[in-house]
Amino acid sequence: MNITEIPISDLDPQQFILNQVQHIAASVGDGLAINALSGGVDSSTVTLLAHQALGEKLKTYFIDSALMRKGEPQQVVSTFARLGVSVELIDARQEFLEALQGITDPEQKREAVTQTFYKKVFGRLVRASGAKHLLQGTILTDVDETVAGIKRQHNVFEQLGIDPQEAFGYKIIEPLIQLRKDGVRKVAQALGLPASIYGRMPFPGPGLAARVIGEVTAERLQLVRQATAIVEAALSTVGAFQCMAILHEDRVTGIREGRRQFGCQIEVRCWESIDARAGRPTHLPWDTLDLLSQSLLAEIPAVVSVTYNIAPKPPSTMEAV
Ligand code: XMP
Repeated sequence: MNITEIPISDLDPQQFILNQVQHIAASVGDGLAINALSGGVDSSTVTLLAHQALGEKLKTYFIDSALMRKGEPQQVVSTFARLGVSVELIDARQEFLEALQGITDPEQKREAVTQTFYKKVFGRLVRASGAKHLLQGTILTDVDETVAGIKRQHNVFEQLGIDPQEAFGYKIIEPLIQLRKDGVRKVAQALGLPASIYGRMPFPGPGLAARVIGEVTAERLQLVRQATAIVEAALSTVGAFQCMAILHEDRVTGIREGRRQFGCQIEVRCWESIDARAGRPTHLPWDTLDLLSQSLLAEIPAVVSVTYNIAPKPPSTMEAV
């Protein structure tokens, strides 16, 4: 499938909204469509486009996969309630944790999240709803990286030769596939989404599983979730493209209260980027890094080592998994 990019310089957000609303309405017809909202700018934009196109014929779910950030499920549902869109919260935490049990390979981890999300949890919701169409916020960067074999993106099928109809039993509509992140933000703003959404940092489809090296367990997720909240709060005013905490698999010897502790390592990453295709670490002031390290070490007793990534993308990628 050939996708024609709409570069940001050619993007007319109002015209884009009009075209996509018409396209969604025509594709779905009299039927029902469903979508999963994560609260990120891509899925939020798709939710509002589809809500404008379909009204009550759209059913929107937030799937709590156990891989979300602190308080995220409740925050997203209440933000959309204020926008007049009702979102049903589905607790699928146990199912995702079971699927991830024992897996350490990055691609297998991504595959486990994808299968649990689309085939099991979402597949069940689609079957129960009778919807024939699924709306998804795939953007061009997701396609590029999947096709190039860099990372299997959680939301890319057709380009991998997977027929979603055959594999999962539904058709996929991808209104944002010609855009990159900067274009999506422009459309989101034009749709009237709040700045907390159109300006929000990207968060990957596989959630915190993309930030846990090694096995993803409830305990390790809790640790990286806590570290993520600390990193995001400490770097909120930096204006970076994205910042994150990564939990390493290796542990190292530390010392706490005079005693040896074989503890965990957190790596902080903070990215400057336009569209996620390339990036370089933000030149953070030493004092900022120092305070951040102190908070992580004080608030998460299992951590004894904090590092800051200074490698650009490429050859690094933004997420660790
Ligand atoms: P990487 O790690 O590939 O990340 O350099 C580039 C950007 O994409 C986000 N990302 C994802 N987004 N599904 C998504 O929708 C995914 O599976 C996924 N993996 C990475 C990442 O957060 C960064 O902004």
